[in-house]
Amino acid sequence: MEFFDVMRARFSVRSYQNKPVDDDALRAILEAVNGAPSAFNAQAYEVVVVRDLAQKEQLAKACFNQTFAAQAPLMLVFFANPDRNREKIGETGAAVYSHEDATIACDYAHLAAAALGLGSCWIAAYGQKAVSELLGAPPSWCPVALLSIGHPAEAAKPRERRPLTDLVHDEQVRK
Ligand SMILES: Cc1cc2nc3c(=O)[nH]c(=O)nc-3n(C[C@H](O)[C@H](O)[C@H](O)COP(=O)(O)O)c2cc1C
Repeated sequence: MEFFDVMRARFSVRSYQNKPVDDDALRAILEAVNGAPSAFNAQAYEVVVVRDLAQKEQLAKACFNQTFAAQAPLMLVFFANPDRNREKIGETGAAVYSHEDATIACDYAHLAAAALGLGSCWIAAYGQKAVSELLGAPPSWCPVALLSIGHPAEAAKPRERRPLTDLVHDEQVRK
């Protein structure tokens, strides 16, 4: 799919067919993630691939019972890992940039899924401790986003957006 078509096709999919995401598609998504920009190219994030139903159900629970997430055949969990860039940029920078790196990585996965005709949903309402404990993450890692991925079982919904005239400020912030 052409890039701008992908961006237009993407929407948050919260209902999935009972059909697995094949390994080639997962690989393509992870390759896309690995191509994402990151501060100092430190790639200060980690991705956990979750397919196990019991594990997905626990994760959905940790996302304040967003049960649709467990119905997706695949979940990716993105962690910020400041251990990877702390030496280069210090404690504060590492915390900020590792979050940004992980966020961009998740967005690449979200768009790559759309390009493959898959549906996904970004989930960022969760208990941090619960997600980290479930997946055995070290204390320095921080979960930034979960992405449920599957074959969509719902049609695209028109989404309202702010008009550009409101969103964009020309040269200076409007008073
Ligand atoms: C940082 C962030 C957090 C989000 N958290 C959730 C979430 O916890 N649960 C959910 O169903 N959708 C979540 N979403 C998806 C948004 O609700 C969705 O992107 C927004 O409503 C716009 O709709 P669209 O993605 O279909 O364009 C999140 C999106 C972002 C970027």
